[in-house]
Amino acid sequence: MSRKIVCVVGTRPEAIKMAPVILELRNNKEYNILVLATGQHSDMLDQALSFFDIKADVNLHIMKDRQTLDHITSLVLTGTGKVFDKEHPDMVLVHGDTTTTLGATLSAFYRKIPVGHIEAGLRSWNLDQPFPEEANRVITDRLSTLWFAPTQGAKQNLLQEGADENRIFVTGNTVIDSLSRTVEQHKGSLPEELSGLQQEVPLILVTAHRRESWGQPLVNICEALSEILASVPEIYVLIPLHKNPTVRDVIRKHLGQHERVIFTEPLEYPDFVQVMNRSYIILSDSGGVQEEASFLRKPVLIMRNLSERPEAIHSGTGVLVGTNKDRIVTETLRLLSSRKDYDKLVGKSNNPFGDGKASQRILKYIDDFFKKRKYSLKYPL
Ligand code: UD1
Ligand code: UDP
Repeated sequence: MSRKIVCVVGTRPEAIKMAPVILELRNNKEYNILVLATGQHSDMLDQALSFFDIKADVNLHIMKDRQTLDHITSLVLTGTGKVFDKEHPDMVLVHGDTTTTLGATLSAFYRKIPVGHIEAGLRSWNLDQPFPEEANRVITDRLSTLWFAPTQGAKQNLLQEGADENRIFVTGNTVIDSLSRTVEQHKGSLPEELSGLQQEVPLILVTAHRRESWGQPLVNICEALSEILASVPEIYVLIPLHKNPTVRDVIRKHLGQHERVIFTEPLEYPDFVQVMNRSYIILSDSGGVQEEASFLRKPVLIMRNLSERPEAIHSGTGVLVGTNKDRIVTETLRLLSSRKDYDKLVGKSNNPFGDGKASQRILKYIDDFFKKRKYSLKYPL
């Protein structure tokens, strides 16, 4: 009897990190896979899914312009609930810490459907940062049945909260599955906006979108970039703008006139990978980009005050710089001016996020769950 698993995705990073799991499960005849897109993101989600040749079986299309957390949460909760009632899945898989993740988990929990949480156990231990993602992942973990922790550190976090060790599986992060295959297969190309730029011109790649950075922190980031550009006349900055108008309007207002700032729309995943490889330094508040930069051995200045990915800092290429203008400028100029500091940072990276086989492990643990469960599963868990 084939088991039905619903894989829920809502935003770009969920698609990129869930894709290798969906592909792995689809290769296995024992599973009947339904991809449920909430459409929390519209074009950015479709763009990411289509690169992996995945088409959502159901799309709730919930996104609206400048949406609120209430809007996303309520529509994901009721929308996924209706699909679960119709499909009666044996398991729901969610990824990460978005509001889609939380809403889908809650509606599965209401129906006592086991939830497998991919990228479980990440913690900043501060509910304000990242907001609301820290709360999303804490609640999701509390309601999940299987925890697919990307690192030993994530497993320790779960244990610290009293999770049953038998249900925690350290798998590596699926982002490395997607990234390593994209790199191996030489997928993607540099965007045409970079065609006029000689290979030796230093490029700084910038991405920013976090809710807690809206307002003054985002202005600080823009002012820091202006100062860096003024200090080092040979560098260029590339900003693939997130679709969120609250973010792109501020960035364009502050940097739109600068002749050495290049803007693009959100890049196709493999093209973004090419851009990361082409960059000298990355400045980002993204979660996934920190992990990818470690694998690609690119310095990434993390524009956040706290990180739930300490591995990126301790054994990767990450430096936590916050959103203070002076700190961003100082650290960037340090790396631009000192080859020694740059090489030291890049040299210490041992890619703490996995070996590209996380999705194979997740499949194996799901198999074990259905076939030879060695632990009891009584509600409430
Ligand atoms: C969401 C996640 C965040 C994740 C990020 C990945 C939550 C609360 N936030 O943040 O954890 O890191 O996605 O990028 O779950 N928009 C479009 N087209 C798109 C996508 C977004 O126009 O394809 C615009 C819309 O106006 C939308 C707004 O961006 O209302 C914000 O989208 P939302 O999903 O609420 O927040 P993100 O900042 O993208
Ligand atoms: N990414 C992409 N195109 C872009 C920018 C980012 O494909 O123009 C990818 C990036 O490689 C990473 C993911 O999107 O895998 C990160 O998404 P985002 O920063 O939006 O979310 P977060 O990881 O912070 O949740």
